[in-house]
Amino acid sequence: MNILTTGGAGFIGSHTCVELMKAGHHVIVVDNYVNSQPEALRRVEELGGMPVKSYTADVCDAEAMERIFSENEIDAVIHFAGLKAVGESVHQPLRYYRNNLDSTLTLCETMERHGVKRIVFSSSATVYGVPDEVPLREDMFCKGCTNPYGWTKYMIEKILGGIVEADPEWSVVLLRYFNPIGAHESGRIGENPNGIPNNLMPYITKVAAGQLDHLSVFGNDYATHDGTGVRDYIHVVDLAKGHVDACAYAAQHTGCEIINLGTGIGYSVLDIVNAFEKANGVKVPYVITDRRPGDVDACYADPAKAEALLGWKAERNLEDMCRDAWRWQTMNPNGYKG
Ligand code: NAD
Ligand code: WQD
Repeated sequence: MNILTTGGAGFIGSHTCVELMKAGHHVIVVDNYVNSQPEALRRVEELGGMPVKSYTADVCDAEAMERIFSENEIDAVIHFAGLKAVGESVHQPLRYYRNNLDSTLTLCETMERHGVKRIVFSSSATVYGVPDEVPLREDMFCKGCTNPYGWTKYMIEKILGGIVEADPEWSVVLLRYFNPIGAHESGRIGENPNGIPNNLMPYITKVAAGQLDHLSVFGNDYATHDGTGVRDYIHVVDLAKGHVDACAYAAQHTGCEIINLGTGIGYSVLDIVNAFEKANGVKVPYVITDRRPGDVDACYADPAKAEALLGWKAERNLEDMCRDAWRWQTMNPNGYKG
């Protein structure tokens, strides 16, 4: 298939492009590089062994999107493009709503005009809000999100669901990712956050590399086995492969499906620190600090639906995730900047 990936130069998009190419698909990318670098796509081409057709454009730009759909026979779209920093979204709500919603509306209007009716969307476990119970299943009621970023995901799920209701020929797969970490095992592509990372694993790799002094562990009084927050960490390559399977599913089914992509296993912050030290033989100094506002005790998936519908299951373990995250860091101490 010819698959358009919006935001394909980003962390998850770049890994997915490689897996799509390995599965025999042709990849077209549109990205405005607001949170990524063109160098990522050069490396995707190297790993995928074929060229990637790329457009530098904002997905909110209707004329640019029209041109992309006119110049290519697109069979399906994976919509990664979006702003994703939870804390930033609290301070810049309008920017988040504008970018994430407008890009989705513009994309879907263009798809509709061109009769392209298959879309896989990057949703998030954040739409579950504060969970009453874990593991989280797709049919659980979402009581509400805790930040504007989460609401954009929630609203986009509703928008895409509404499109299917109006036109049952559409095929929509809403993938709710849990906590993607790790990097491609080649060490050539990985997560490249701007400035000081917000998320746990990129913070740990910078501490281990000596670029940051120590990790702050946000709270040790949660209702978990060691008091630190528990999450479902998933290797980004496993996540990427889930998109290949979702595209195959979308090609054969119509309707709207919500699917968790997680491992089903919850690890605490200290589990991650210990596993990282063991896998890589490096120290990660940390101090326990106050809780981070908005954090929940535990969040992990019931991944059964992904296996039943897509035949997909995460294959990489925590040691793989720690090893690959560290390889990416050591081979690219300044990310794509060399
Ligand atoms: P990322 O920031 O690395 O990638 C997003 C890409 O989209 C970037 O390359 C960015 O430049 C591009 N982009 C943003 N707005 C754009 C626009 N208007 N036009 C064109 N390009 C635009 O993030 P990621 O971690 O790869 O996440 C991909 C998607 O998955 C996002 O939608 C994110 O919200 C979602 N998601 C991420 C996580 C996570 O923890 N990484 C978890 C759940 C969901
Ligand atoms: C993981 C754990 C922290 C940093 C976020 C988004 C979510 C999704 C994935 C997009 C928590 C603890 C962290 C640090 C720490 N993204 N921590 N010290 O918050 O589970 O999920 O990314 O959709 O929407 O909210 O991920 O990596 O920030 O935190 O102790 O310096 O690590 O408290 O328990 P989170 P995270």
